[in-house]
Amino acid sequence: MVDFGAQYAQLIARRVREARVYSEIVPHGTSVEAILERKPAAIILSGGPSSVYAEGAPGIDPALFTSGVPVFGMCYGFQLMAQGLGGQVASTGTREYGRTPVTISQPGTLLAEMPAQHNVWMSHGDTVTQAPSGFSVLASTEVTPVAAFEDLERRMAGVQWHPEVLHSEHGQNVLEHFLHDIAGCRQTWTMLNVVEEQVEKIREQVGEGRAICALSGGVDSAVAAALVQRAIGDRLTCVYVDHGMMRLGETEQVRRDFEEVFDSLDVVDAEEQFLTALAGVTEPETKRKIIGHEFIRTFEAAEVRVFGDAQQGETVFLVQGTLYPDVVESGGGAGTSTIKSHHNVGGLPDDLNFELVEPLRALFKDEVRAVGEQLGLPERMVWRQPFPGPGLGIRIIGEVTKERLDMLRQADAIAREELTKSGLDREIWQMPVVLLADVRSVGVQGDGRTYGHPVVLRPVTSEDAMTADWARLPYEVMEKISTRITNEVAEINRVTIDITSKPPGTIEWE
Ligand code: XMP
Repeated sequence: MVDFGAQYAQLIARRVREARVYSEIVPHGTSVEAILERKPAAIILSGGPSSVYAEGAPGIDPALFTSGVPVFGMCYGFQLMAQGLGGQVASTGTREYGRTPVTISQPGTLLAEMPAQHNVWMSHGDTVTQAPSGFSVLASTEVTPVAAFEDLERRMAGVQWHPEVLHSEHGQNVLEHFLHDIAGCRQTWTMLNVVEEQVEKIREQVGEGRAICALSGGVDSAVAAALVQRAIGDRLTCVYVDHGMMRLGETEQVRRDFEEVFDSLDVVDAEEQFLTALAGVTEPETKRKIIGHEFIRTFEAAEVRVFGDAQQGETVFLVQGTLYPDVVESGGGAGTSTIKSHHNVGGLPDDLNFELVEPLRALFKDEVRAVGEQLGLPERMVWRQPFPGPGLGIRIIGEVTKERLDMLRQADAIAREELTKSGLDREIWQMPVVLLADVRSVGVQGDGRTYGHPVVLRPVTSEDAMTADWARLPYEVMEKISTRITNEVAEINRVTIDITSKPPGTIEWE
């Protein structure tokens, strides 16, 4: 895929993987020779923010169109194809953004077996007004006369819309018709390939070196570490920092789960250190910064223990479970970078280099879970709901103290237990329980007055945590959680529920 600055570059790559075809992303500006050297079975031209008429708009060498390789264009890529192959693109002044109905005039191969009218996601200002010769026009919209075309002889096709986004109905079919039926790509790519490919890459990068991984207990770092372990065996050391803000029984659980899978796990008990650093702090960002800072300090101390005997000049590799949604730059990047700030870490030789290993950089959460399953990680680990690095520290609104943490831990354990009992674990993305530690309200229990704290349940549904909706928990489940928390946790006398979507709310309260 040639990336013209698409917002959805990795999403397109992911849809291609879903069609069981391997894909790589190259930035626009890559020469046609370099693209062809990779021997692509097909080339996709992505969307992009430019107008093909804008000054300095990224273009494509027309040689690409005579190379004999099948080409598919979407949005901007579609317009580049039209322009490069002799059709016409015009700035008509009419724009289409968001959900747009398309009408199929003839389905051809690309749009075969789709409803003649359906909704797709558009985002464009320019419009293809005339298809290049040899192409059949397949669809149009109210303002776009040429919204899809194909030329089966040259194995080329394109659509004005974004077939990769969920809002485009039949989008995956469009891509698959191009990949399988027009370009003839074989459907051989699976998560097993991802494992093999990443293991190979890690071996290449790390060579005979050693690596360290901070396990958070979550699925991302677990899968990243498991891949690295498969690649370099016992030259990987895993470190788990217990900052005292984990959930009830979590550290023990993580230790049991991880010792099943990993050869070496270094569990660091840092509760006192973290709680001391957080004493008196209530401002959310300050809390986060302190927790982040203490975490690095603890991790560095563990590194010193583990790699204290590292040779001068030896590169130590740091494994991170960075996912695609965490990656800021588009295009996938090279996957490695050196962390300069680690250079003068106390106790380590000055010129000891750290290099990042991020085997999940191009993947989405559900793909990471599929890789985890492929690697044979326990289901509990693979399907664990996300939990923030700062832990319960950002779920106590107010100062974080051991007493408050214990209170919240109990309430949270009850909520999680009841959610699991109700069988809703996989449907609910997350259900933080938030303690409003500085709020008190009057209640009555056992004929006596109480003056306790409220907790907030925050059940949400989401696909990627970027956006979320509040989950409509069944009343019986809410009732059970509320009754148990108020009965079993002495200081809590009210349970409330947060019914705000994201945006405008975030999932966590801090
Ligand atoms: P928000 O609250 O921003 O959360 O809607 C989105 C997702 O990110 C998680 N989260 C974090 N995860 N470190 C993490 O590893 C953090 O500092 C952090 N803050 C929020 C949150 O639980 C949700 O899944």
